[in-house]
Amino acid sequence: MSEKFRLHAFVCTNQRDPKKPRECCASKNALDVMTRLKRAAKAAGIHDVRVNKAGCLDRCEHGISCVVYPNGIWYTIPDDDKAIARIVEHLAEGKAADEFLMVD
Ligand code: FES
Repeated sequence: MSEKFRLHAFVCTNQRDPKKPRECCASKNALDVMTRLKRAAKAAGIHDVRVNKAGCLDRCEHGISCVVYPNGIWYTIPDDDKAIARIVEHLAEGKAADEFLMVD
C-alpha cells in the first residue's frame, strides 16, 4: 500500500563484527538515533511518514546512513537531537535538510 505513506525514511542500524575492517552504523548509536527520529516524527504529528530500520545501505563510512524515499535523499544523521529535529522538518515539509545531506 504505497499510497499509505508520503515518505519512507530508512535508517541503517546494521551491526558488523568489530573484527571486520569496515565500520558500521550500529557502532555510531544508529538504533537509538533511529528510535529518536521515529518518536520525534510521531510527536510532531506526522502520520503519513514511515521511519524504518534498515540493514546495511552500503554507505558505511558515511553513517549513520539514512535514505528518504521516494526522492532518494541521503543523509548522514549525527547522534544529536537538533539534527534529528531538522530531519523531522524534512519529513513534515518535504524540504531536505541540506546541512545533513550525505557527502560521498
Ligand atoms: S553499516 Fe550502515 S550503511 Fe553499512
